[in-house]
Amino acid sequence: MGVTKTHVAIRSYGDIINARQTGRELAQELGFGLADQTRLATAISELTSNVLHYAGLGVCTIADQSNQAENCIQVIVEDNGPGIPDIELAMRQGFSTGGTLGAGLPGTKRLVHEFQIESRPGFTKVVIAMMAPKMGRVDNLVR
Ligand SMILES: Nc1ncnc2c1ncn2[C@@H]1O[C@H](COP(=O)(O)OP(=O)(O)OP(=O)(O)O)[C@@H](O)[C@H]1O
Ligand SMILES: [Mg+2]
Repeated sequence: MGVTKTHVAIRSYGDIINARQTGRELAQELGFGLADQTRLATAISELTSNVLHYAGLGVCTIADQSNQAENCIQVIVEDNGPGIPDIELAMRQGFSTGGTLGAGLPGTKRLVHEFQIESRPGFTKVVIAMMAPKMGRVDNLVR
């Protein structure tokens, strides 16, 4: 099964809307429920908002990584902005250097099935994924 990837450059609020909608539509196509569609869309909004706010420019890559057993959407959001000096601190609920809620990163981690973050000066990359077992597979039924 080939991997389909969509790259969305993030440099304006409209790009956030576009990335968010692209993620939601793929989730819908793959049969994810409305709650998961909304979780993914919200996660994409938060991560791309951070890119716009803290780095000014970045890329959001949305990939269909489904296999025979499960549907999987992976989203990579990366930028070449200043980086996050202390990731553990940035992941804490309420920590913000932007004067906002400080809920974006910890909230996103709670919304998705997989969450990885790496950052250094000049580079930040967040990888998230949502999975759902494929319907109608015998091994998915008996497991
Ligand atoms: N792409 C990024 N580049 C540099 N710093 C970042 C990036 N993303 C997050 N940060 C840092 O991590 C902190 C926490 O991010 P988080 O999204 O949780 O909260 P916030 O953006 O400050 O507020 P909220 O998302 O609730 O509006 C930010 O305040 C910022 O210091
Ligand atoms: Mg944020």
